Amino acid sequence: MSTTKTQAPTTDLTRDVRAKHKEYLFPATIQYYQDPVVLTEGKGLRIRDADGNEYLDFFGGILTVSIGHADDRVNAAIVLQLERFSHVSTLYPTLPIVELAERLARLAPGDLKQSYFTASGTEADETAVMMAQLSTGSTEIVALRHGYSGRSMLAQSLTAQSTWRALPTQVAGVKHAVSPYCYRCPLHLTYPSCGIACAKDIEELIRTTTTGRIAGFLAEPIQGVGGFITPPPEYFEIAVGIVKKYGGLFLCDEVQTGFGRTGGKMWGIQHWGVQPDIMTMAKGIANGLPLGVTIATPAIAASLKALTISTFGGNPISCAAANATIRIIEEESLAGNAERMGRLLRAGLEDLQRRFPKNVGDVRGMGLMQAVELVEDETARDRTPNKALTNRVFEEAKKRGLLIGKGGLEGNAFRIAPALTVGASEIEEALGILRESFEAAGAR
Ligand SMILES: Cc1ncc(COP(=O)(O)O)c(C=O)c1O
Repeated sequence: MSTTKTQAPTTDLTRDVRAKHKEYLFPATIQYYQDPVVLTEGKGLRIRDADGNEYLDFFGGILTVSIGHADDRVNAAIVLQLERFSHVSTLYPTLPIVELAERLARLAPGDLKQSYFTASGTEADETAVMMAQLSTGSTEIVALRHGYSGRSMLAQSLTAQSTWRALPTQVAGVKHAVSPYCYRCPLHLTYPSCGIACAKDIEELIRTTTTGRIAGFLAEPIQGVGGFITPPPEYFEIAVGIVKKYGGLFLCDEVQTGFGRTGGKMWGIQHWGVQPDIMTMAKGIANGLPLGVTIATPAIAASLKALTISTFGGNPISCAAANATIRIIEEESLAGNAERMGRLLRAGLEDLQRRFPKNVGDVRGMGLMQAVELVEDETARDRTPNKALTNRVFEEAKKRGLLIGKGGLEGNAFRIAPALTVGASEIEEALGILRESFEAAGAR
């Protein structure tokens, strides 16, 4: 069955929104697609644009709409809280914030118990680094190449993709270890005969580029913006072991991988057999409402002695949305659904790799966090990133009513991450559209 759809004619409303966006927003505000889609309303995994076109949303903002657009239960929790009050600041304890903090303490791995609430992933990572520095007395941080931490000065310094860096590193003491990126191994080795040399290299990095005592190691269990770079299973145990030897804490960034996204478990790091000392969350926590959280052990949390406040941190509406979202993720065992649906999605993407062996270089990821990296000619071992083909497939998929994401340093990896509520028929529908889009774009 063909998935080809005729797109509705562009309306004046769409033209007007695009024109105003261009005129009044910073030009660097990146937008997807040659003709950006003006989204107006959604429900579950479906979303509509201002011209009346309907899309199957397999990106959810950016892995943010974790249980589907305009979920009635989340909406009801938001409205209830709105009718009570929408802001009092963190100067006053509120019901939604303590309910959420207690819930997160129950769900977070190990001894992570006390939370600090902010309004974004950037601030959550900033807070994590500050806590590591305060509690260890060291200031140096090891981060990962291909990592992404946000857009503040520190987060930009932690981020290791030139494309996302507006300024050179402004914050001293940030060192970048090589990424566990097996498909493009920075050490030109092959797993498993590599002996996980990328993780072992952290010791050399610490001994040669730091004072030998570090505050911590900040890493994503799967590198999200980097293109869902998935480390080999042994990576984190070796890396964190080295970090501990040099006095560092493990700061785990669960901004993309949290809340069941990686399938079967609540947190991405639970697949890798190590225990974070500090963990950060944002994106999927509140089904799209702004919220960042840094959770730490009580001993680490106690090391912040200065006065501190985040005006919008732990906003009661965001917290009410988070409580409803996480309750549904738990009650409906959506991590389990992510595992099952992730398997189906992965099988379909691997089938795509068999159909287009020249251009599909790598399929990777876990659960409902799957990436497809496109290259010039995998059969000839030419792994030159094929950005032009990626863009063509991307446009073709949109024309056929499927929204997906892109990522990777070269923008040549698709990031496919539907809401955790996705069903088998929607996965099949998306895979059908992708197959046709690859063909229409001339993939081979
Ligand atoms: C892993 C990770 N950390 C931190 C951030 C920053 O989050 P925010 O954009 O909410 O500031 C992002 C955003 O994409 C992210 O992917």
